Amino acid sequence: MQDIPVVTSPMQPLIAIIGGTGLTELEGPELTQTHDINTALGKPSSLIQEGTWNGQRVLFLARHGHPHAVPPHKVNYRANILALQQLGATHIVAVNAVGGIHSEMVSGRIAVPHQIVDYTYGRENTFFDGDFRPLDHIDLTHPYDETLRQALMVAGKQAGLSVSDFGVYAATQGPRLETIAEIVRLERDGCDLVGMTGMPEAALARELNIPYASICLVVNPAAGKSDGEITMDEIRAVIGTGMGQVRDMLGALLEK
Ligand code: HPA
Repeated sequence: MQDIPVVTSPMQPLIAIIGGTGLTELEGPELTQTHDINTALGKPSSLIQEGTWNGQRVLFLARHGHPHAVPPHKVNYRANILALQQLGATHIVAVNAVGGIHSEMVSGRIAVPHQIVDYTYGRENTFFDGDFRPLDHIDLTHPYDETLRQALMVAGKQAGLSVSDFGVYAATQGPRLETIAEIVRLERDGCDLVGMTGMPEAALARELNIPYASICLVVNPAAGKSDGEITMDEIRAVIGTGMGQVRDMLGALLEK
């Protein structure tokens, strides 16, 4: 891994990858262990795999379970982040399949977003709820860790990919996709990408002070951004090749 200074801890960095739709297992690493973790806030979405990839230890969690079955609004985001912390994760790289709103965000495009607008509701979205931890208010001015974002951009380059270094990520509730009017509103709000799982995940990582960034793969034009309706066949086709590129980028990130 390059460009990620471990300033506050003498520990070796341990990157955790949270895989989303299309990335329920990681083929790169040589598996060394599987962790069946239970946290004070429940079980994470899947067993957590530990492996070695390009000489680095790595953790992998499938956000929607393996096989893919947990809908975005039912993911236990708190248990996922807590479990990764319990296993010693020092950085979290999220992988998110998204719809493209900005003209640059065409199907197959990979972006490393820099901002978030949260449109989700009814999700357990904090550790500081007065029960698990006393009430507190964290800063989220920059929801993604800039050093990790830059490392992802370098990794993209090393993997020979053209990666967008920006993106305002709109987190919607799902599991349905949006209406045209909703996408018009998100665009008016300044959003470039739309997905269902970016929040509360990013905020929870920040609450535990774990640097967090995302690799977004655009798998369809958002509603109204193409002539037709959005089909799962179209999404699956993009995931087929796109997630291979995301894997290459992750492999490059871990390379010493
Ligand atoms: N909208 C919301 N989430 C998504 C989309 C979309 O168009 N595509 C993939 N995840």
